[in-house]
Amino acid sequence: MGMIGGGKDAFIGAIHRLAANMDGLIELSCGALSIDPETAIASGEALFLPASRTYTNYEEMILAEAALPPEIRMDFVTIVTPNFAHFAPAMMALTHGFHVVIEKPITFSLEEAKQLKEKVEETGLILCLTHTYSGYPMVKQAKAMVADGKLGQIRKVWVEYPQGWLSKLSEREGNVQAAWRTDPKKSGKSAVMGDIGTHAAHLAEYVTGAKITAICAELNTLVDGRMMDDDGAVLLQFDNGSKGVLMASQVAAGEENALKIRVYGEKGGIEWFQHEPNTLLVKWLDQPTQIYRAGSAHLYKAAIHNCRTPAGHPEGYLEAFANIYRNFALTLGSRLSGTTPTPEMLDFPGIEDGLRGMAFIENVVASAQSDKKWTPHTI
Ligand SMILES: NC(=O)c1ccc[n+]([C@@H]2O[C@H](COP(=O)([O-])OP(=O)(O)OC[C@H]3O[C@@H](n4cnc5c(N)ncnc54)[C@H](O)[C@@H]3O)[C@@H](O)[C@H]2O)c1
Repeated sequence: MGMIGGGKDAFIGAIHRLAANMDGLIELSCGALSIDPETAIASGEALFLPASRTYTNYEEMILAEAALPPEIRMDFVTIVTPNFAHFAPAMMALTHGFHVVIEKPITFSLEEAKQLKEKVEETGLILCLTHTYSGYPMVKQAKAMVADGKLGQIRKVWVEYPQGWLSKLSEREGNVQAAWRTDPKKSGKSAVMGDIGTHAAHLAEYVTGAKITAICAELNTLVDGRMMDDDGAVLLQFDNGSKGVLMASQVAAGEENALKIRVYGEKGGIEWFQHEPNTLLVKWLDQPTQIYRAGSAHLYKAAIHNCRTPAGHPEGYLEAFANIYRNFALTLGSRLSGTTPTPEMLDFPGIEDGLRGMAFIENVVASAQSDKKWTPHTI
């Protein structure tokens, strides 16, 4: 793995390294770890990277790595830069034959995402998008139960992602992560939908297996002086006839990462809450509620494949992230050894999810700005 961004000045890069390390399948071998050359070098030293493979910009890294013998050079690059700096390194990495792991939202604009998709298809390389929450075992259990028809025909989806960390004007108080996320030149068309709304939309489509076909949205800026939205609500229609409600807010003061999804069919519903990730509640129309737990033998294969510890030992965000990396690494390993990956290995988000996420952001903004409101969710 080579990493772009994620140095001492960054948040999510360190989480990626922990997740990538967890199964011993991936080794960090090089990096262009910061936009600031001094920080890039200091970050490489702190991670014990060789000086010769600690680069001060991503262009230099991709060219230098491409010139190394195949058994030495990185196999893939992980892009953990702010949203506006995803597209160029991803295109360059693919052009030079490197697989890509990339943060969400996949690009700055839908147009960029379309170009990236063309490049992925043209090169045949693997792209993995880190929609972290789809890596949790009990989310996979929920998906498998829906797919197996346990809930009957799906009718209603509620997905909510309230956070409180932008309740103040932190972008003016030196919070680097808040600063670029609320800057329209760096974040994209919607701040709240790009940062967390796309996670919620992806989770709704992942668990139900259905695709959003139309949306009716409202976006708000609830903190005075902020340049972009920090709150929003979206009504959803799905291609299986079900209806949904999505809520994303970064000004829900006191909330942490309170992502919750509820899906209801004719016979019952499921509820998963990321603060209690080992638990899946299954509610029945005519029976008491059941509690499914990670690590139990009663789970579907897709969930068991992504459990790491015996029942009762908490597994969380890092393990969910690691599940995405492991499935990607096993798929890449199959590619490199000429074997066929199993369906469980192929279970990680990719370019299509990235494209749908960018379309979601842009369609939400279009709907919020229109008087007509209901807007087809097309790419
Ligand atoms: N999947 C998740 O749960 C999750 C969580 C947090 C952040 N993210 C996403 O991760 C990305 C990064 O977010 P963050 O909070 O870590 O940002 P950050 O501001 O903390 O870190 C960004 C890093 O990128 C570097 N950088 C910027 N431009 C660069 C360039 N051209 N070349 C090399 N390095 C460059 C910066 O120096 C810094 O090291 C964003 O796209 C964000 O949406 C995803």
